[in-house]
Amino acid sequence: MIEFKNVSKVYPNGTKGLNNVNLKLDKGDFVVIVGLSGAGKSTLLRSINRLHEITEGEILIDDKSITAAKGKDLLRIRRDIGMIFQNFNLVKRSSVLRNVLSGRVGYHSTIRTLLGLFPKHDVALAMDALNRVNIQEKAYSRADELSGGQQQRVSIARALAQEAKIILADEPVASLDPLTTKQVMNDLKRINQELGITTVVNLHFVDLAREYATRIIGIRAGEIVFDGPVEEATDEVFSSIYGREIKKR
Ligand SMILES: Nc1ncnc2c1ncn2[C@@H]1O[C@H](COP(=O)(O)OP(=O)(O)O)[C@@H](O)[C@H]1O
Ligand SMILES: [Mg+2]
Repeated sequence: MIEFKNVSKVYPNGTKGLNNVNLKLDKGDFVVIVGLSGAGKSTLLRSINRLHEITEGEILIDDKSITAAKGKDLLRIRRDIGMIFQNFNLVKRSSVLRNVLSGRVGYHSTIRTLLGLFPKHDVALAMDALNRVNIQEKAYSRADELSGGQQQRVSIARALAQEAKIILADEPVASLDPLTTKQVMNDLKRINQELGITTVVNLHFVDLAREYATRIIGIRAGEIVFDGPVEEATDEVFSSIYGREIKKR
């Protein structure tokens, strides 16, 4: 589903983001990427949909090279990839429904979406997506009237309305309290199980990684230093990924 072939990334200022990463993620996986701040988690995740451009190697999505893709082909591959950010990335002054509908823009002409003309089918999809994360009653509220956890669920609904086959979540719970963290992680996990959406989540905390991941990837200084099923990710493994005592929450 997602394959990295000898992928390296050097930022324009010379900083190494990724160093010769090789990786194959299977369809339906729930992969958690762990590592210290600055290890390269975001670089890895954002390389997948070319939010960051890699400097060497190739990334394949469903056996198609996103690295080489241009124009319509690139848009089509990107349409299958939903992105979830720490800060939710919603249009704050817009309604929840409009935010979710923005997941549909990849399917329509720019002019149509600028005018806010979404077909009924899209509105139904958006409402269904809100339903899946249990906030359909907030559809007509302004996004910034919602709590952090609710806003993150809106961003998950946006990825669902997009009919994404892959969800990339970059520290989706980093700005949430422990209870809300659980709710958002449960939503991601449920969607992964119910819809078979391949999910890759960057996380800071070991206990969360253990609780939700089927597979854990440890990254350190841009290199993969562990890759295995959650059962193999022992305290010793985590200490070696972090290069020190592990951090629990
Ligand atoms: N836009 C950028 N320009 C230069 N260096 C960057 C940029 N983004 C990240 N880096 C560097 O790349 C390395 C990996 O960063 P990042 O992928 O953000 O790590 P993480 O998400 O694990 O905290 C770090 O050394 C970081 O300083
Ligand atoms: Mg990061």
